This record gives sequence, C-alpha cells and structure tokens, in this order.
Amino acid sequence: MASATREFLAAVRSGEVGAGVWGCGHIGASALFHLAVAGVRCAGYDLSAARVRDIEAGRFLSTAVTHPAPAATTPDTATAPLRIRASTDWRDMIDQNIGVHLVCVPTDHGRDPSSTALENVLPSIREVIRASAPSRWPRLIIIESTIVPSWLDEFVLPIIAQHGLELNRDVYVGAAPRRDWFSGEEHTLRTLPRVVGGTSPEATALMAAFYSLVCQTVKPAKDAHHAALTKVVENALRYHGISFANALAVGLPRYDTAHVLALASSKWNIPYYHPSLGIGGHCIPLAPQYLVTEAGAGAMPLIEQTVDFNAGYFERLYTTTLARLLEGRARVAVLGLAYTPDARMEKLSPAFSVLRTLRQDGREARLHDPYYSDAEIRDLAGVEPLAFPDDLKDYDAIVLVTAHTPYVQDDIERHVAPNAVIVDNFGAWRDRRFPDGVRYYEVGAG
Ligand SMILES: NC(=O)c1ccc[n+]([C@@H]2O[C@H](COP(=O)([O-])OP(=O)(O)OC[C@H]3O[C@@H](n4cnc5c(N)ncnc54)[C@H](O)[C@@H]3O)[C@@H](O)[C@H]2O)c1
Repeated sequence: MASATREFLAAVRSGEVGAGVWGCGHIGASALFHLAVAGVRCAGYDLSAARVRDIEAGRFLSTAVTHPAPAATTPDTATAPLRIRASTDWRDMIDQNIGVHLVCVPTDHGRDPSSTALENVLPSIREVIRASAPSRWPRLIIIESTIVPSWLDEFVLPIIAQHGLELNRDVYVGAAPRRDWFSGEEHTLRTLPRVVGGTSPEATALMAAFYSLVCQTVKPAKDAHHAALTKVVENALRYHGISFANALAVGLPRYDTAHVLALASSKWNIPYYHPSLGIGGHCIPLAPQYLVTEAGAGAMPLIEQTVDFNAGYFERLYTTTLARLLEGRARVAVLGLAYTPDARMEKLSPAFSVLRTLRQDGREARLHDPYYSDAEIRDLAGVEPLAFPDDLKDYDAIVLVTAHTPYVQDDIERHVAPNAVIVDNFGAWRDRRFPDGVRYYEVGAG
C-alpha cells in the first residue's frame, strides 16, 4: 500500500477524516452501522426526519447485527459508542471534515432506473466539499447505489467538476455497488467481496483501502464504470436464470421442473434456480432495465424479451397451473408480503400479483406477514389481515409466498383445513406430512 493511502487510512481510523452517508435507508443505514462499528466517525443525511431519528436512536433498519456488536465482529470497538451524527440538513457535513461521501439514495422508480435523487444530492456534495477546509487527500465520492454506468459521464462527473473542483486533484469519484442479502448473517456488507472502481488508479487504491475497514475482501475493478456495470450484470444474470426456471414451470406444467433443475445443477457449471411465483425485490427485477438503458433500446433484444415474459408471468402460471389447483377454493390465506424471508422488504414482491390475481378470479384473499402490522397489511396490500396460525383452519387454500422463520418453524400441519390446497413458492414445506386430503403443490414441481 502506498504511503499516501496508508496515511489516509490512518486518518480515517483516528477520526481525523469522517465518512458522510447520503440517504440513510437500507443501504445507507447499514453502511453507517458497519463503518461506525469499525470505529469510523460518520455523518448521515436523509430527507426523512423519521429516518434521521432512527439513526440517532441506533436503529439501522435491516442491519441484523445490534450494537454493541458481538466481540467476534469487531473486537476493538465492540462496546465503544458509535460516532454517528445524522441530520436532515446536508450543510451539517461542512464542518465535520468528511473525506469520503457515500451516495446511497434510491435510483429507481417502480421498475425503472431513476436518477432524480442522485442528481439532487450531487450538487450538495460538491458544495460540502467546496466549503470544507482544504484536505491532504482528494475527497472521495463513492456511489453505492445501483446506477446505469453511463450516468457517470452524463451527469455525475459534470456536476462534480463544476465551480472550481477538479477531478482527480480535488475529488475522486468511484462506484462501489452493494450486494448485501439482508436476510440473515451470511451475505452481509462485511462478508461479501466488495467490487470498487474509481476514476483513476489512485482513486481505486484509496477506495480499496477504505473498504478494507469493513469488508473482508475487496475486488478492484478497472474503473468506476466497470464496477458499476458489475452490479447490473450480476443481477441481470440472476434475472435470466430465474426467468428461465419460471419459463420451464409454465411451459412444461406436467413436469417437476424444480426437480429437473436440481438434477441439472449437479453439473459443475450450472447454478441452481427454483421456479417461483415471480421475481421480487430492489435489485433483480430492475437489473435488465439498467442494462437496456445503458445499451440503448433494441440493442439487447434477448433482455427485452425476458422483461416482457416476466411482466405477464404470474398470470400465466395461474392460468396453466394454479387456477386448476385452486378450483372450488374460495378463501385463500396468503403468507408473506416480503419478497425475501425474515426481512421487511415488500418491493415488487410476488405477493402483490398473487393477491391481485386471486381477487380478480373472484376468490377472497387475506394476508399475514409477521413483519407488518394489520394496518400496514391493509395499507400496502389492500386486503384484510389474518391471524397466524389460528385462522388457517378457516381457509380452503394457503399460498406460502415467503418462508419467514415463524412459518417454517410452526407445526403448520395442525392448523391446515382437511381438504386445503397448499401452494408453496420455494418448497419450504416440501417435507411436511400433511393430512391425506390436503393437496400440496411446490411451484414448478409438476
Ligand atoms: N435494499 C437492497 O437490498 C439493495 C441492495 C443493493 C443495492 N441497493 C441499491 O441501493 C440504493 C438505495 O437503496 P435502499 O434500499 O437503501 O433504499 P431505501 O429506500 O431504503 O433508502 C433510501 C433513503 O434515501 C432517502 N432519500 C431519498 N431521496 C433523497 C435525497 N434526495 N436526499 C437525501 N436522502 C434521500 C430516503 O428518505 C431513504 O431513507 C438503490 O440504488 C438500490 O438499488 C439496494
């Protein structure tokens, strides 16, 4: 490590230089948390006063690790108070000697990429840098949000390099996209290899040193564009794999395609994808749109066709398989609003298509999710809640969308009505022994 980089790292470690986080949602709050637990002095900025209050009170949304952190996580700072100041006024960062600005604002609207929030915060970051005292190191601006890589040239660099700031002299810009899987402790900011790329080799080296404070493995990319593209491509690859599995489920409904895909994945170079009720979440469903925006409409027809396929996927699964299974079943209990287990994240969850289609087909659908209150269920999903597990006996069918721990742990067999139909998204209840009259169907399993 070059001496300038070593000195920079020492300045961050000592608290001389702080980190500023722009947008304190799932990504920003967890960045704040992990950096602060590693001893970094942090400042958070968010438009939302509620978010700022939460951060100040030590509530970090999806970060499962609590503070004080377990000794094994950070032996040196496990019990030290976290040094985080959060504010709804970005100007508060000016006098805090912020050397690293992490941009964690949303970059999507519905299913499409949106640069609005990014374009909104960049001039403020520039103004913080301009108004801050001179620094021995160029200030780092690192985009953690998922972006269309060409946004870097279209507006990120032009906005930053205005009003006297010079790229690679006063400021380094980079991308260090996030890959966390907020369910469980396995795939976290700390454990996942972190891809980082800057506007120059020096910028990349500084970024790599900075992230080594919180990430076990750092993977330098050729530059910021390639780092940003990596996130989009890896998500698009998953999108294609899952879409292919789902295409098998609707195209070959007489086959247990989940079984076939499991067998196929025993070949060394084939990953396993399970057919499902649909693709949900913040990242995977949107990935193709970032790629199409980068490449230009019509440049990647395969990707555009897959997007079209997914737009009508659940309705096709319903027509080819589920409608027949659910024949005569008027009352359906849907378990899980979140798209992923043990997280409070409902963005683009397949639960929405399930509920909409069931109701359009004249069935009464009710919803339970342990991570949402009854009022939130009504508000977000527009259906009535049900009490789990006691109410299940009153339903003709159960759709298990999300394998939250309470659903997996419960001895669900005792609560299911004698002739119920069960639709299980990923086969979480595959090994249960349901009473004889119960019809169990794992999506994609024929
Ligand atoms: N959540 C994930 O699983 C995940 C994973 C990888 C990447 N990402 C990406 O990270 C980025 C952030 O996602 P998130 O899940 O943290 O979103 P989020 O909605 O949880 O949080 C975004 C935060 O930014 C704040 N905000 C919005 N506009 C702002 C503005 N102009 N100025 C200041 N604050 C503003 C919001 O109030 C909110 O608190 C997105 O690009 C997303 O695609 C998310």
